Amino acid sequence: IPLDLIIRNGIVVTASDQVPCDIGIRDGKIVLLMVGIPPQEGVEEIDAEGGCVTPGGVDSHVHVAQSAAKALGAQSADDWESGTRSALAGGTTTILAFAVQNRGDSLSVAASNYHTLSDDHSLCDFGFHLIVTDPNYEQMHVELPALVERGITSVKIYMTYAALKLNDGQILDVLLAARKYGVTTMVHCENADVIDWMTKSLESRGMTQPWHHGTSRPPLVESEATHRALSLSELLDTPILIVHVSAPDAVSHIRKAQTRLLPVYAETCPHYAVLDGRAMRTGGIHREGEGEEGRFEGAKCVCAPPLRDDPRDKERIWEGLANGTFTVFSSDHAPTRFNDPRGKQLGLTADPTKHAHGLGNFRYIPNGLPGVETRTPILWSEGVLKRRISPQRFVELNSTNAAKLYGMYPQKGTIQPGSDADLIIWRPAHKRKPYTISQSKLHHGADYTPYEGLVLEDWPRYTILRGKVVYDGETNEVLAKPGNGKFLVRGKSSLPGPRNVWLSEWRPE
Ligand code: URP
Ligand code: ZN
Ligand code: ZN
Repeated sequence: IPLDLIIRNGIVVTASDQVPCDIGIRDGKIVLLMVGIPPQEGVEEIDAEGGCVTPGGVDSHVHVAQSAAKALGAQSADDWESGTRSALAGGTTTILAFAVQNRGDSLSVAASNYHTLSDDHSLCDFGFHLIVTDPNYEQMHVELPALVERGITSVKIYMTYAALKLNDGQILDVLLAARKYGVTTMVHCENADVIDWMTKSLESRGMTQPWHHGTSRPPLVESEATHRALSLSELLDTPILIVHVSAPDAVSHIRKAQTRLLPVYAETCPHYAVLDGRAMRTGGIHREGEGEEGRFEGAKCVCAPPLRDDPRDKERIWEGLANGTFTVFSSDHAPTRFNDPRGKQLGLTADPTKHAHGLGNFRYIPNGLPGVETRTPILWSEGVLKRRISPQRFVELNSTNAAKLYGMYPQKGTIQPGSDADLIIWRPAHKRKPYTISQSKLHHGADYTPYEGLVLEDWPRYTILRGKVVYDGETNEVLAKPGNGKFLVRGKSSLPGPRNVWLSEWRPE
């Protein structure tokens, strides 16, 4: 077989196996897995030197140039070029980003708006989830099936945020349509009324510092909404994925539902595994005696759901990553700049009459952290190399399960003949060198990283997308050009779906 590229001496890791063998690539696809592929005249080779080779990362929760961030005048720190350059530099070869339906607009207008932003600009392969904010009959039963035909097979719905949230009846409307058209539904679970009530109460007491964002959203805000979403999903026998889970009680609700064999999937993110509530005071990784408490730095780590106050909650997240409760590990990359009046500083400048202590008001801080570049290396280093999860489980969480859940498998998410040659080559143990995360090395458009100073044991040595080296970790250089990424026409989820188990004599029409 004529080849374009041979990767030698790697340990090929998939969600099920770990095999020392060579990889033969032709026309962007994996065509051969074999011990000792015979050399071919003039064919490029990469020597993995005994290091692991894993599938390229699939980050299924990324916000890039998203207009919802603009609600208060905030601006995403990344456009499609910087966001996807950053993805490749961290081993991620596919992202799924959000296309928001503005209320009053149709879903297809939302999709074409985001195609315009991404199509000629993305460096990595990509697809969209539609954020549904207006689930009327026309949108759910005319527009949605039409978009499924065009390869957009997932939606995200919100239980909070004034501009986005759906009530329980609207959620049922979406779930019913999702079941009918085979759409994967992601749900942002937080109780909006409790957040609003707590926010007003804290404001009246002058408790508006960045970390009071966490006070306004105690864990039960998330766990109550999670339980409600699980109930609605069970009522309509429709699978859901609970996004960005942080609260241990929410994890327990999900685990219990899965034990009952409900088709319930869950996602968590690096920040919930590595950071805790102290970062909403210090602005990042907590180091003894280095706190910036009493400054606005904590705004860097304001996200929703918030980082949790009890540092032990991080171990519950690692437990869920190891035991299978979590299906995917996504970045929830939602970057705004810190030193920017259209970024986190909005918390200092918007409506100053409502500020206490000169530390701004958390209500106006744009939510979200940058993390598309650091996601995969954190899971590899803190997860596999610290022996919290197996290499196979890493592959599931980092690539395979997202590819299955969102209809891209086996084109994406695995290493097998016929799959796209999307790969990460890691260093062998004897060549690993500590990698300290630092803003100066990252490729995103944000001006900080919440992981500044975190020491990892390794960083991708090469990222390969459809058979081309797109990131060289020896020089920290991204080699792909804007427009190199392809829009992925996705199919339906291949993970277990509806079971036809009903709670009453009611059935869908
Ligand atoms: O704080 C966050 N995560 N902002 C991004 C929007 C979302 O809900 O995922
Ligand atoms: Zn969300
Ligand atoms: Zn998000």
